[in-house]
Amino acid sequence: MEGTNRRIVLKTLAAIPLAATFGLVISPLLRFMRPTLKPLDVFGPSDQPAPEEDVFFNDTDFPKEWTCLPFMFKQKYIEYNPEGKEVREIPGFIVKLPSGDVVAYSRICPHLGCVFNWVPDPSECAKGYNFKPQGPVFACPCHLSVYDIAQGGKVVSGPAPRPPRKFDLTKVGDKYKIVGLEAGSIA
Ligand code: FES
Repeated sequence: MEGTNRRIVLKTLAAIPLAATFGLVISPLLRFMRPTLKPLDVFGPSDQPAPEEDVFFNDTDFPKEWTCLPFMFKQKYIEYNPEGKEVREIPGFIVKLPSGDVVAYSRICPHLGCVFNWVPDPSECAKGYNFKPQGPVFACPCHLSVYDIAQGGKVVSGPAPRPPRKFDLTKVGDKYKIVGLEAGSIA
């Protein structure tokens, strides 16, 4: 009986480092899955940026291909200030493509952060932005970067290093909801 008790005590002692190692491994994994500024708050709400207000569009808002509508998306960031948060407004465009798909992009230019324009007319783009595209584009007035929306926002002219960030959309019934901005910085 005494031997059994000793074995249980020894097994328990041996398990302590294993449990501690498991805790050390699982904690960063949980924080990766649910980022939070507080080290041990792995079950609390995530500190990831979140929408402050819902933005919706109806199917009927897009009567034809290349309908492009501006919107403002309010994104909330956790901050150490009296309000506990900061809300930033991100201008966006939502566009119906000829394929019927609806896509939404941030209007913040990935080059140096100006707000770019919707330029539906290729000849207007040729005059104002020094590049003649095949169809409607986004174009930035600051250093003339041009983004081809039909090619997923590909940079077709100018110094921008990559396409603008996309917004995630969900469709519920006949409504589109802007869910959030693609991960990364605002620009
Ligand atoms: S900021 Fe848009 S091209 Fe430079």
